[in-house]
Amino acid sequence: MEKLRNDIRRRVRAYFNSSFGRKKFVPGKTYIPYSGRVFDAQEMVNVVDAGLDFWLTTGRFADTFEKDFSAFLGRKYSLLCNSGSSANLLALSALTSASLKGRRIRPGDEVITTACGFPTTLNPILQNNCVPVFVDVELGNYNIRTEVLDEAVSARTRALFIAHTLGNTSDLEYISAFCKKRGIWFIEDSCDALGTMFKGRLAGTIGDISTFSFYPPHHMTMGEGGAVTMDEPLLRKLVLSFRDWGRDCWCGSGEDNSCGRRFTQKWGGLPFGYDHKYVYSHVGYNLKITDMQAAIGCAQLEKLQSFIKKRKENFNVLMSGLSKYAGFMLLPSATPGADPSWFGFPILVKKNKYFTRGDIVEYLESRKIATRMLFGGNLLRQPAYRNIRKRVIGRLVNTDRVMNDLFWIGVYPGLTAEMLEYMIASFEDFFRSRKIYV
Ligand SMILES: Cc1ncc(COP(=O)(O)O)c(C=O)c1O
Repeated sequence: MEKLRNDIRRRVRAYFNSSFGRKKFVPGKTYIPYSGRVFDAQEMVNVVDAGLDFWLTTGRFADTFEKDFSAFLGRKYSLLCNSGSSANLLALSALTSASLKGRRIRPGDEVITTACGFPTTLNPILQNNCVPVFVDVELGNYNIRTEVLDEAVSARTRALFIAHTLGNTSDLEYISAFCKKRGIWFIEDSCDALGTMFKGRLAGTIGDISTFSFYPPHHMTMGEGGAVTMDEPLLRKLVLSFRDWGRDCWCGSGEDNSCGRRFTQKWGGLPFGYDHKYVYSHVGYNLKITDMQAAIGCAQLEKLQSFIKKRKENFNVLMSGLSKYAGFMLLPSATPGADPSWFGFPILVKKNKYFTRGDIVEYLESRKIATRMLFGGNLLRQPAYRNIRKRVIGRLVNTDRVMNDLFWIGVYPGLTAEMLEYMIASFEDFFRSRKIYV
């Protein structure tokens, strides 16, 4: 049996080598994505191995990944789920559990966040019938403005839920102290910041609960996938329950009676001895991951340090090539204390008489260089959020600036030196075409 598996693995490696070798880069012809999967034969071998196990649901690869991911982060617990969006939903939903007694988030409670970013950081707040309180962002790092946080607090404030924008953080020391002082939860959406450090600590290890995404453009991928991490055992138990149908039982897939009291307990209005496997303590979901996805994640995790290093290097190459245009474009800057594992390279076009964001984006795209907006821009201007219940602190002036004037380009590990050179040369050509010589 094992010999047959080894034969299959060997063939998969041969298939990878013949099908996915490095392609020649042709400037202006080859598309330069903003991000994407970077993998070798090992990811394919792992996914085939998981297929041959035919366990299908969360299994041995998921167990290994959760253990190794926790070790990477220095966090006590990690739980895999099927996306970063699900991770965010689980993080906030878990905090609504009655088990948390006075610490529980209830409908109508307020959660401080920003409108500048990805919708599924915001959605769990609304899906749990809480009220988002929107604070503006800083220009340059596009994270929440810490100096106005005090203004956002009310008697109903229960949590602060923010994403680390494009890999950069806000002042996490300040935020963590702010949440502790107020006795509110700190949820870190670290989906775009795997590997980012803040004053010697990894982003995603500072909040009470943190989330990660493994969708292909992220720092590592499983195709689809996400993780929720925490240090408090009760929070792990709650996330697990919400992830696995809301059940009270914590047996793994295919496991029975790990508590030894499967038929000897009394729950709610159920008869004594009702099977613990089918006792539901929360109104939950099924957001589990399959073992094929986790298997890919195991291979990616081995490469994570090199991915992070390459993202930083690519960022630095772009920064040194583009810094001469700082008069026209606000270039990104790491928040003091942060060492970002960049997700992308954000550029805010300053008001000028020569060009707009639309002009430069169109030019770069015509040169086959992918650009992206900062996700939803100002989410409050999106059709889905026009009539939501909310509070807004001041005017979201910078969030609107982001929506109107910002775009970003890639730094992902799949970018080669010649691609980066071509990207910088394309900026040069654009400025020359506008008769701007710097
Ligand atoms: C900050 C942030 N949070 C959450 C998500 C959602 O992750 P997923 O696509 O895995 O659902 C994304 C999307 O990529 C994101 O950028």
